[in-house]
Amino acid sequence: MRITMIGSGYVGLVSGACFSDFGHDVVCVDKDETKIAALEAGRMPIFEPGLEQLVATNVAAGRLRFTTDLAGAVAGADAVFIAVGTPSRRGDGHADLSYVFAATEEIADAMTGPAVVVTKSTVPVGTGDRVEAILRERSPDLDLAVVSNPEFLREGAAIGDFKRPDRIVIGTEDERAREVMRAVYRPLYLGESPLVFTGRRTSELIKYAANAFLATKITFINEIADLCEAVGADVQDVARGIGLDNRIGKKFLHAGPGYGGSCFPKDTLALLKTAEDYETPIQIVEAVVKVNDSRKRAMGRKVLHALGAPDADVRGKTVALLGLTFKPNTDDMRDAPSIAIATALGDAGVAVRGYDPEGIESAKEVMPDITYCRDAYEAATGADAVVIVTEWDAFRALDLTRLKQVMTAPVMVDLRNVYRRDIVEAAGFAYTAVGR
Ligand code: UDX
Repeated sequence: MRITMIGSGYVGLVSGACFSDFGHDVVCVDKDETKIAALEAGRMPIFEPGLEQLVATNVAAGRLRFTTDLAGAVAGADAVFIAVGTPSRRGDGHADLSYVFAATEEIADAMTGPAVVVTKSTVPVGTGDRVEAILRERSPDLDLAVVSNPEFLREGAAIGDFKRPDRIVIGTEDERAREVMRAVYRPLYLGESPLVFTGRRTSELIKYAANAFLATKITFINEIADLCEAVGADVQDVARGIGLDNRIGKKFLHAGPGYGGSCFPKDTLALLKTAEDYETPIQIVEAVVKVNDSRKRAMGRKVLHALGAPDADVRGKTVALLGLTFKPNTDDMRDAPSIAIATALGDAGVAVRGYDPEGIESAKEVMPDITYCRDAYEAATGADAVVIVTEWDAFRALDLTRLKQVMTAPVMVDLRNVYRRDIVEAAGFAYTAVGR
């Protein structure tokens, strides 16, 4: 199969590299010449475990290439994937579809033969209809079909998620397009990943429903964690105790500082906008968005509390934040809880030092005022508390004796429940966790 991927960002690059690894002939397109030049030189624009190697192998095998020439890449392709960004539109929370429609227009002008155009970008219900209308208007004589094929990739685990998906969702009413999509994903469904064929609008909604449900699960356990703290229960045991029930499932029940990232915050908002447009409010998701926003700020107050506030004056104290990205194994700072926590600490007159294994460069752009350090121990030096904000492996086995020696006061706030209380307390720390 000849596959063209429009947009070489996170989703386009991972998907393109994985498709080429299946043996397809893939070309990834991007407008950004610097990005394409870097990719051609083997440099990845994002940090994702395994990606650089995967790209190198498939480029060497002649199955994967990069270009800024959209028209050349689209002509003759069996399937053209749109994988451009759909950020939240400033001001109203709607998904900004301008990149999707701009790409569609260029595809329309470049298509030469029968083509299947696939939206992989997360797009609100009805976008496929609009994409199809643009294509038909600009290229009325072409035999074409528009398919929705949402991605469910987690940053940091994207290659595994692509190659071993729980399911592949394909939304189209067109039989020829179904055949093309079967051929595109053939290595996966032979490996027994179920293909879910459905209508295009349904497929578009599945993506939002999945992310909103996962965000709800996290938010639910976060509120249960607060209750655990109040009543003296342990949220990790609650999560295990409910999660072993197959109807509930044990994943996405880790209490923490609130969800962040490039998907859950924007997709929940976009779903609410669709619900509003169709006058069908989804009140449970409205509550999730509200609770998660306030949780990030509450985590700042939790750290201040560990420093002794409100009884003690915390002005002039220092806190070390370990893990700044929204989750481990990424350099992505979008909606990371660390941002709200650092802001709350700064507002209270607390100096913030930070360390992250991969995210310091992106963190500097959103948090220019904190002091960046080279490792956890340097960050903890002179600190009155150390806060584990993201559960990077590097923070799971800290040398607690060394950490205590460099700190002004041995206080640990573990927002990811990485440590056992007895061990940290035995090392001489005052220990605060989440829901335990
Ligand atoms: C998510 C979806 O999982 C993926 O299917 C979708 O396509 C894109 O959005 P991602 O944002 O990369 O992926 O990360 P994910 O692992 O889902 O974590 C999202 C946020 O939830 C992170 O801030 C994470 O720390 C938090 N989280 C996750 C929890 O707080 N508790 C959990 O149990 C799971």
